[in-house]
Amino acid sequence: MVKCIGVLTSGGDAPGMNAAVRAVARTCLNKGIEVYGVRLGFKGLYEGDFIKFDRRSTRNIINQGGTFLKSARFPEFKEEAVRQVAIEKMKEVGIEALVVIGGDGSYQGALALTKMGINCIGIPGTIDNDIPKTDKTIGFDTALNTIVEALDRLRDTSSSHQRCTILEVMGRYCGDLAIHAGIACGVEMIITSETGFDEDKVIARLKASKASDKSHAIVVITEHITDVHALAKKVEAATGFETRANVLGHMQRGGRPTASDRVLASRMGVYAVELLEAGHGGECVSLVHGRIEGLDIVETLSKRRETDTAIYEDASKLR
Ligand code: ADP
Ligand code: F6P
Repeated sequence: MVKCIGVLTSGGDAPGMNAAVRAVARTCLNKGIEVYGVRLGFKGLYEGDFIKFDRRSTRNIINQGGTFLKSARFPEFKEEAVRQVAIEKMKEVGIEALVVIGGDGSYQGALALTKMGINCIGIPGTIDNDIPKTDKTIGFDTALNTIVEALDRLRDTSSSHQRCTILEVMGRYCGDLAIHAGIACGVEMIITSETGFDEDKVIARLKASKASDKSHAIVVITEHITDVHALAKKVEAATGFETRANVLGHMQRGGRPTASDRVLASRMGVYAVELLEAGHGGECVSLVHGRIEGLDIVETLSKRRETDTAIYEDASKLR
C-alpha cells in the first residue's frame, strides 16, 4: 500500500493544472497518504525541490490559471543517470509514487521513471488537446474560450474596416483549438494540419468571398503551418481584401480555468491517486466518452491522435 505520493506539473502550463494538483493532494490526505508537491517539473524532482502538503497547501488555487508548482522543460530527464538522481531525491523524503500532469513529453518521463521502479500516473494537462485516446485535455476548454473571445473582438474591427483577418492560434500540430474556435465564431476558413494548406486554394476562396456579398472575412489557422504575415500580404495583393495577420501567442495559455476544466481536472486528480493506491504505474488518466479511465501510456502514445473527421465535415457544411 502506497504511503507517500508526489505530484508535479511539466511542459507547457495549462489552466486547470492547479485544480488537478489540489485534487491529488486532497485525495491523498483524505486517504491518510502523505503527499509532496514537486516544484518545476522533472527539474525539481532532480533537485529535490519538494513541498510537503497539508490541507492548507492547496487552498484558493482551484480558480487560478498557470501552475503554482511552476513548470519547466528539462530535456536532461531523458538521461537515465539524471532520473536515477531524481529517484534518490524522492527516496530521501519517502516519495514512492508520482502523479505527472503534462503533455505527451511528460508522459514519456513518467513512463521512464515507472520502468525504473517508481509507479507514475500521467494526467493530460495541455491546451493543445493533442493527447491520443482522451476526449479532452485539461486547459483546452479555457484556451478555446480565450480564442473565441479574441475572434469575436477581431470580427468587430474586421467588419468595421471590411478587412480579411487571419488569426494564428496554438495547438502545436493539432488543429482542435482552430477548428472548435472556427466553428464557434463562424469564420470563413479554418486551416489546420488536418485540413492541409494550399495557398492557391485559400486565395481562390477569399477571392470568391470578396466577389460575393461578404464585406469581411476571418481565417483561423494553427501555428507551424505558414508565416501568417507573409500570407496576409499575398491575400491582400491577390484578393483586394485589405488583410491583417495576428498571432495570439501565449495569452492562450493564461487565465482562470473554465468550470469544465476545473471539473475535468478534479475528477482526473482523484482517479490518478486511486490508480496509484491500487498499485498501477505507467498509465495515464483519460476521458473516454465521458468516463474517467486509466489507460496504458505505451498504448496511448503508440498511435497519433485520431482526427475527428466528422467535425471537419460539419464545419464545411456551415460555410
Ligand atoms: P509536454 O509534456 O507538454 O509535451 P515537453 O515535450 O516539453 O512538454 O516534455 C516535458 C518534459 O518531459 C521534458 O522537458 C522532459 O523533462 C520530460 N521528457 C520529455 N520526453 C522525455 C523522455 N523521452 N524521457 C524522459 N523524460 C522526457
Ligand atoms: O504545448 C502547449 C504549447 O502552448 C503549444 O501550443 C505551443 O506550440 C508551445 O506550447 C509553446 O511552447 P513555449 O511556451 O515553450 O513557447
